[in-house]
Amino acid sequence: MNVTVGTTVGATAVAGISELVTNDPAHGGVLGIVRDAALVVADGRIVWVGPAARLPAVDRFIDVGGRAVLPGFVDSHTHLVFAGDRGAEFEARMSGVPYDGGGIATTVSATRQAPDDALRALLSRRVRDAAAQGTTTLEVKSGYGLDVAGETRALRLGGEVTSETTFLGAHVVPPGSTREDFVRLVCGEMLRACAPLARWIDVFCEPLSPHAFDADEAREVLTAGASAGLGLRVHANQLGAGPGVRLAVELGAASADHCSYLTDDDVDALADASGALPASAGPGSTARGSAVPGSPGRGSAVLAAGAGTVATLLPAAEFATRAPYPDARRLLDAGVTVALATDCNPGTAYTVSMPFVIALAVRELGMTPAEAVWSATAGGARALRRGDIGVVAVGARADLAVLDAPTHVHLAYRPGMPIAHRLDLPNDATLIDPTLSDPTLSDPPLTDPTLIDPTLSDPPLTDPTMKEPHR
Ligand code: NIG
Ligand code: FE
Repeated sequence: MNVTVGTTVGATAVAGISELVTNDPAHGGVLGIVRDAALVVADGRIVWVGPAARLPAVDRFIDVGGRAVLPGFVDSHTHLVFAGDRGAEFEARMSGVPYDGGGIATTVSATRQAPDDALRALLSRRVRDAAAQGTTTLEVKSGYGLDVAGETRALRLGGEVTSETTFLGAHVVPPGSTREDFVRLVCGEMLRACAPLARWIDVFCEPLSPHAFDADEAREVLTAGASAGLGLRVHANQLGAGPGVRLAVELGAASADHCSYLTDDDVDALADASGALPASAGPGSTARGSAVPGSPGRGSAVLAAGAGTVATLLPAAEFATRAPYPDARRLLDAGVTVALATDCNPGTAYTVSMPFVIALAVRELGMTPAEAVWSATAGGARALRRGDIGVVAVGARADLAVLDAPTHVHLAYRPGMPIAHRLDLPNDATLIDPTLSDPTLSDPPLTDPTLIDPTLSDPPLTDPTMKEPHR
């Protein structure tokens, strides 16, 4: 493979792409694939996409040697700010003990005891591990502080690594509080302190858990959050059929997450809500409604970001709780927009690996590889109401992933193989959140040249001079 890098810093071309996943409906199919493709990036945005044979002249040129390139993964549901270990709880579950959310208190206690620097180091390591596997956007929730100081601290730390922060004060009722007092605190003093630090509010709506919140409590939390200017997300229908999904749809939440147990009414409600998403809303979508632009202040929307409620599936949680997997096929066939995310947390899903989630979705949720890749990229972007990510099109952020493989199919075909990486471009802003990166921190490259499949040829994809966004 030839890597030719010119001397002028400016537009950078990426060529030698065997398969470019664009998610742009203009290119057809579920994934808008362009074969033998190239793209050009300038100032952190994509400025040209097309066949390599028509690549315009540019200052810099990177040949990825016949690899597949895709939008970076959009992990729209994580709980990355935590300390402590619940390996014993996992071990007990593997002997038949069911999950009911009670273990969250263990993590609250460990997280409260952790100094800021220790928590920041744990968070940074998780962000780095996610980027190393191709994730370029992360949503990060609070929810292991459960008092005003702990929740604001989690959101401040989360805000150091992403602008997609979510206030999850209503995770569980902490020991020592009554339900009424805690809901009052979450909707009052805690919300006032946390709203300026968050984009979203979430609630664990699960009447089957003695620790989580019922429909009335969840409604109170979500309406208070909306009044404070926050967008809505809901942990819904994880442990059994319940009110969470319909509440999410009724209140216009961006996402109903888990969706493991759904009635026909729930599926219908989600399908109707997907009608509010634009026609490009993905595989199986019957989208028919109007499009709205991407988030203000995030640059021009490339594809309309949508306004409906996405069903976000989190199969790593079913994996680690030995619970039945959600039925993605049923949702897609009904026209629901589906996102995939990791749910990274110490209780139910201790992983930041979107490739692992894609493999599970294909094997266990009834998705095709193309549907799973769409849901892990464009679907995640829809769940965050972002039009500038999850797509490779002119004007989109140059947030890209590269596979040590010729096609996206290998993500599910070779589970556990470390083939996905964030694609770092020299002198370019392909960072998770460039405004938050610390240029004084430098790290070794994310990829190890000795690990790249020799049959796909050679030099390291990342440049050792490229800085890491966060650590
Ligand atoms: O999404 N269900 C609620 N919250 C997390 C689990 C949190 C925990 O057990 O620590 C979830 O699965
Ligand atoms: Fe979660």
